[in-house]
Amino acid sequence: MKDPYPYILQGLEESPDFYDSNVHQTFADYLISLQESARNLWSSYRSIMVNVDYSDPKIQAVYLVRYYPHYVQMTLEVLRLSPEIFTFGQEINACFFGAGPCPEVAGLAQFLIEHSQKTQSIIAHVYDVDYELWKPGRKITQNFVLPGLWNNNIDWDGKKLDLESANSFESIKDIISNSNLFVFQNCLNEIWNRSIVKNNIEILLEYAPINSFIIIVDLSGYYVNQKMMEDIVEIIEERNKTRNDYKIVGKSKELNVISSLQSPDIVKKYLLTGEDKLIAKKRINFLFLTLRKGEYISDDLLDDIG
Ligand SMILES: C[S@@+](CC[C@H](N)C(=O)[O-])C[C@H]1O[C@@H](n2cnc3c(N)ncnc32)[C@H](O)[C@@H]1O
Repeated sequence: MKDPYPYILQGLEESPDFYDSNVHQTFADYLISLQESARNLWSSYRSIMVNVDYSDPKIQAVYLVRYYPHYVQMTLEVLRLSPEIFTFGQEINACFFGAGPCPEVAGLAQFLIEHSQKTQSIIAHVYDVDYELWKPGRKITQNFVLPGLWNNNIDWDGKKLDLESANSFESIKDIISNSNLFVFQNCLNEIWNRSIVKNNIEILLEYAPINSFIIIVDLSGYYVNQKMMEDIVEIIEERNKTRNDYKIVGKSKELNVISSLQSPDIVKKYLLTGEDKLIAKKRINFLFLTLRKGEYISDDLLDDIG
């Protein structure tokens, strides 16, 4: 995988939303100033139900340096497991839910470099309850990481969309019905109202076009992630009794990925120094569920055919 770190660091250093030389004399001073936020964010993610205020640019900066490079790997690893199934044409229309600064878009681009060179363009529809707040972090992906990793075209759009607001997916039904890929990465453990999210997923299942894929991937170790995936499998099984239009392409209780990425020296020296709560991530453990919409023949019908 191409290392996203240099582009992230360049983005932070060159974006006044993050590093401001009037406030911190050097970029190293700025990284030192992030240590407290790094400890706070680490502690927030240790809660059973996660609640983080991403409006603080320091929290976004820590997210970008400490977690984002590893999270590029999540959607990428899920796609890599079945490149023969995840086939794409010249253009991909994709929706990313709870996307924050969008490492999953970088993961998709990396997969296309490896397995789908005919894909020339991505239209990325980005949705998040904190869509506006995440603008500085997202700009790092749009202006630095994606141009650094992928030479082809990417068009961005998106808006605030709350997975926990009743029928929120109705407002994007036209976009859903024109998309080939839907990704929910790392957002389930911030969900409080599972039943509304399930209703929205049912709306998605309804409007998603034939041959589209849904990828749900989230960290293991959170009860809510496991439960949401089980609930979605139940919804699919129930739906397939009458429609039989979804196949579970992949499902895992846990996937362990040891990171191939090394923190750059400047990060090890000034931010993730190895002290208490400032230890760089070395592996990620996650769960996933992948679905494909199609026109499948039901088992009953196969029995009838003989
Ligand atoms: C841990 S971040 C993950 C961001 C990105 N998907 C990734 O993998 O790095 C969780 C994201 O979920 C978003 N989120 C939390 N609750 C949400 C909700 N109810 N509706 C939509 N997005 C939500 C947060 O704003 C945040 O961007």
